Amino acid sequence: MTTSPYYITTPIYYVNDRPHIGHCYSTLLADVATRFQRLIRGEMVPKEISNRQSAIEVPRGDTHAGPSVFFLTGTDEHAEKVVTTAASHNLTPIEWADQNSAAFQEAFRGMGIEFDDFIRTTQPRHKDAVARYLKQLLATGDVAEGEYEGWYDVNDEAYVTETKAKEQNFLASNGKPLVRRKEKNFYFKLSTYQSWLEAAIQSGEIHIEPEARKNEVLGRLREGLQNVPITRPVTDDPATQFGIRLPGHDEHRVYVWIDALFNYLSAVDTPGRERFWPPTVHLMGKEILWFHAVIWPAILKALGREMPRLIYAHSHYTRDGVKMSKSLGNFIDLETIKAYTNKYGVDALRWYLLTQGPLHATDADFSHGKFVEVYNSDLANGFGNCVSRVSNMVGKYYEGRLPLSHALDSESSPYRATVEAWASHLSKSIEYFRTCENRFDLLGMVNIGMQLIRRVDLYIAETRPFSIAKSLASNPNDREQKMLDNILFVCAEALRIASLLLYPAMPTKIAEFWRRWDCAPPAGVPLAELAQFGHSTYGLKPGTKLEIGDALFMRIDPAEPAPA
Ligand code: ME8
Ligand code: MG
Repeated sequence: MTTSPYYITTPIYYVNDRPHIGHCYSTLLADVATRFQRLIRGEMVPKEISNRQSAIEVPRGDTHAGPSVFFLTGTDEHAEKVVTTAASHNLTPIEWADQNSAAFQEAFRGMGIEFDDFIRTTQPRHKDAVARYLKQLLATGDVAEGEYEGWYDVNDEAYVTETKAKEQNFLASNGKPLVRRKEKNFYFKLSTYQSWLEAAIQSGEIHIEPEARKNEVLGRLREGLQNVPITRPVTDDPATQFGIRLPGHDEHRVYVWIDALFNYLSAVDTPGRERFWPPTVHLMGKEILWFHAVIWPAILKALGREMPRLIYAHSHYTRDGVKMSKSLGNFIDLETIKAYTNKYGVDALRWYLLTQGPLHATDADFSHGKFVEVYNSDLANGFGNCVSRVSNMVGKYYEGRLPLSHALDSESSPYRATVEAWASHLSKSIEYFRTCENRFDLLGMVNIGMQLIRRVDLYIAETRPFSIAKSLASNPNDREQKMLDNILFVCAEALRIASLLLYPAMPTKIAEFWRRWDCAPPAGVPLAELAQFGHSTYGLKPGTKLEIGDALFMRIDPAEPAPA
């Protein structure tokens, strides 16, 4: 099996603000995608799978050169806002950055997110790499000296065009006035890449998703490209002194956006990590797609580097229908996030954000009412209830030990048809799962797991195992006994497979489920094998003790107030 490396990135976040739900959302998506990839490739880390009692020996394949999946996130620290915010707290920029960068890492860990690396643009490894890339761009002539005048939005750290400035009544995105700036600086010759960019985006060499976003980029490209200033002059103002200096031109510092984009490259442009270039997915919010879909690919082209495989821009979280913004102070902040994870568990919040979030081309609202509805229907009454129904029946009818599937016994078994129908349904699900994977449709991927749960519920309703058990109690007979054995085996095995597909979204609860049913997947086995129904090694074993335990997800009373 070929395992081409998988490298996923999130934006690196500005450290002037505290982390909020939007940052957690993007980083969560990357975590879920990473976990899916590890599962697909049989590269789950031992921590997730060590709690298995019945050890499975897995034949060792070729020794490979370390993990093939890499997940990068981090913080963007050389912004003017960071300097001013730090000053207002009587801290140096780096003290402030240290504090807030740590807050981001803590927020992500609190969401059960496990990144492979966390890059900070103030780290020497990044600063040195950026200097190298700029030297190269100066040498190729893609970066040259010039003068620029325009309207600057300090909040977004970007110039806005004359037309846009007028449209916005010369106000920045935070409502403060735009600043007129005229500076000597170095610029990147973006305009020379105009026709290449248009063709590459059209052809998919630069693959942008969703489609609606790609069309917006193409539309804006047709208006024509201007060269972009990529340095800012250093003056007496401390806000201009924080940043990476342009090699050979100490009085110029690298513009924060250019500095930041390079993080994706600097993190892996180092011995042992080269195999991760180019990135499989650059993930971000739609408001910064232009930088990732136009400026960044042009810079990579100028550096002679391979293009990222997919540039994916999700939409935004709103709150009660309104855009979340600093001026409105209506962010779902860290305190609210913690209140949710403390009360309902981290997996519940992950599930809600993932399944109801703005993954595709439309914005999504964060609402407590919706959270409760989804939690009760998918988790308490869905997955949790289905697991306890099956565990309870096995507990009651078989003293807690999983019965044998007679269908798997012999070719001629009358139960074979049911089991084969299930097996074929499951392999179709796995096929569909693959098509979702190719489009970065994480929602489609996790939904397959939830649909399986619904199907098990339906199967129980149709086959009525409790009625069979009742009839057996008064009239024991082989035919009905085998029927009951079979139904419960099928349900349990389908739940095992569903649990694999739900794991990336809900790693904690699924690990608990695996512990109870002693069915954690062994290391080194790819999903395609793990997910085979009734697999002789990886499937559930008859006789396995299914621990019942507390409800995995307690129902929430909709009348309960939102946690605060
Ligand atoms: O733009 N809904 O950093 P940033 C969903 N440092 N996601 C949201 C969101 C919302 N309401 N608000 C923010 C920067 N995000 C630069 C990036 S990358 C080389 C440099 C998420 O702190 C989303 O991923 O403003 C968005 O793109 C990112 O946070 C912006 O974070
Ligand atoms: Mg922003």
